[in-house]
This record gives sequence, structure tokens and C-alpha cells, in this order.
Amino acid sequence: MNKEEAKAAILSLSKEIDQHNYHYYVESNPQISDYDFDMLLNRLQQLELEHPEFAYDYSPTKRVGGDITKKFESVVHRFPMLSLANTYSEEEIIDWETRLKKVTDEELNFVCELKYDGVAIGIRYENGIMTRAVTRGDGTQGEDITANVRTIRSIPLKLIGHFPDDFEIRGEIFMPLASFNALNAEREEIGEQLFANPRNTASGTLKMQDSKVVAERNLDSYLYGVYGDDLSFEGHLSAVENAGSWGFKVPTKEKNFIQRTTSIEGIMDFIHYWDKARHGLPFEIDGVVIKVDNYAQQRKLGFTAKSPRWAIAFKFKTERVETLLE
Ligand code: IVH
Repeated sequence: MNKEEAKAAILSLSKEIDQHNYHYYVESNPQISDYDFDMLLNRLQQLELEHPEFAYDYSPTKRVGGDITKKFESVVHRFPMLSLANTYSEEEIIDWETRLKKVTDEELNFVCELKYDGVAIGIRYENGIMTRAVTRGDGTQGEDITANVRTIRSIPLKLIGHFPDDFEIRGEIFMPLASFNALNAEREEIGEQLFANPRNTASGTLKMQDSKVVAERNLDSYLYGVYGDDLSFEGHLSAVENAGSWGFKVPTKEKNFIQRTTSIEGIMDFIHYWDKARHGLPFEIDGVVIKVDNYAQQRKLGFTAKSPRWAIAFKFKTERVETLLE
């Protein structure tokens, strides 16, 4: 194989493998067997070894980790990473909606979504390539954990479709229950202390220095916010849906992971549905989040010192105590 052929083969194999990763990790709908997938990956690895000058930074072979981070650099967020006002009371959700309606005469559309119980992340993409992934930290600055985030298969290293040149996507990284249980079973077998819960395990895993270990931990993600200087979206839901078309794993209406509604009844239906249905999810959530959809309306409503007025989290009462007693 000459150089030109090797270069072309590396490009086409990279694309093919990215696509299979997408089907498997984002859509949960694999198109080829694990064996055939491994064959493709081995072939790409071999070609990159023979022709390292053609290997992309964002090659799917980089997902296996190997980069060691000695010290996580501090990074100031371009857009502060705020937290959400939260409540356990339906009454307070009703009060919140009533308050917002007093501020504006316009009709308000609300987007209801899950409150994933994981670790918040902000990931920057420049010209469609992941360039940096930063933790929330204190909201003003976080830590650069790019090498570790690169290993998470549901987070694209290179985007597809029509995306903004420079933007940040935010969301949650978590450990699915199946990965958590398998990890603990493994640890029990070798006599290691068990991890307490998926959230802390995800958080600890993301701070590990060896990205190879992170790659083996099967972390997953849902992305729920797009930030940038000149974004063309009218509101939150359309931004999230667009991000899905660039290759991100985003909540969908089909699974009822995200819904838009104009009424408090719609909000309550979503809360009641997930208060029951959450027990059947393959990952943990600790509530639902309600956001005003329209960006212009969000700007009008603004922020308090800590959190946006246009969003609120409803938290479920956990059964942690009962679980302990069991
Ligand atoms: S939105 C300005 N949406 O909950 C609003 N946050 O205190 C930014 N979280 O640390 C957050 N699921 O990591 C938003 N669907 C969701 C979320 C979500 C989980 C976490 C987030 C943040 C905390 C809010």
C-alpha cells in the first residue's frame, strides 16, 4: 500500500468506526458484530502504526486512553457554569410558574427534562473537533479533564452535519447502573472496597490520572445545553435537538426524556411520570429540571446571584434510607 492509499484508508476507516461507535453508544443500535468492529479498529491501529503522520488527533483509536494527566489544569469558564435553584415541593414549582407569568405577558413554553445524577461537564468544539473538556469546579473555573473525557464513547471526538464553528456543549457524565454493578462485583471478587454509588464513582473516575482506566469504566453521557457567542437557535429545545444531529447523545421526546409544555399540568405530568418510571432507567436521576425554552425570554428573566430565574429543579425524595435497611 503506498502513502496515498494508506492516507485514504485511515480516513475512511476512521469515519466508518466513528459511525459504528455512534450506532452503538448513542443510538444503542449496533450495526455490526463486536468482532467485526474490533477487526476494523485493529486495521486502523495497524495503519496508524505504519503511518503515524496520517493518524488524526481525534482518531477512534484514541478512545482506549493512555494519556496520563499529571496535574489537571485550571480553566476559567467562558460562560459561568451556574447551578439550579431546587425544591422538593410541587407547591414551589407552582409558585415559580406563577411568578414567571407575572413577569411577562407572553406565553411561556417550558422544557421538562431529567436531572441526571452525575458530574457536570463543559466540552468545547472548534471546527467540529473536541478541543477541551472542563469540570464545573466552583462555577467560575474548573479542571481540564480532556484526556479522560475522550475515552467516553458516546461523546464525539469529531462532529457530523452542520454545527457552529466554535461552541461549548454542557451535560452530565454518569456511570450507568450496569457498569457500576459490574465494577463492584469485580471489586468484591478481588477483595477491594466497594464503591458507594454511581455518582461518586463517576466523579472519582473522571479525576483519575490514567485515562486507560477511565476508558475501562464505561462512563456515559447526556448533553443538555449549547453555549456560544452567535448561536442561531431560538430556544433550548431546538439547540438540544440540533446537537443530536451533530452526533451527541441528547435526550429525546420519544423516550419522554425531554418534553415541551405550556402548562403547569404538563410540568406536573412529567414530574409524576418520572417519579415512578425512574426506577426502570438504566442510570440514576435525582429529579427533573424545568426550563423556559425561548432564549429571548430566558434573557428577560435573567439570573439571581447563583442560578437562572428561568429554570428550576424538582428533586425526588430518595429511598437511600430504605435501601440501607434492606
Ligand atoms: S441545567 C444554568 N439540566 O444539576 C443551568 N442541569 O445545580 C445549568 N444537572 O450541576 C444546569 N441534569 O450538573 C441542567 N437536565 C439538566 C441537568 C442538570 C443534571 C445538574 C448539573 C448541575 C446541577 C444543577
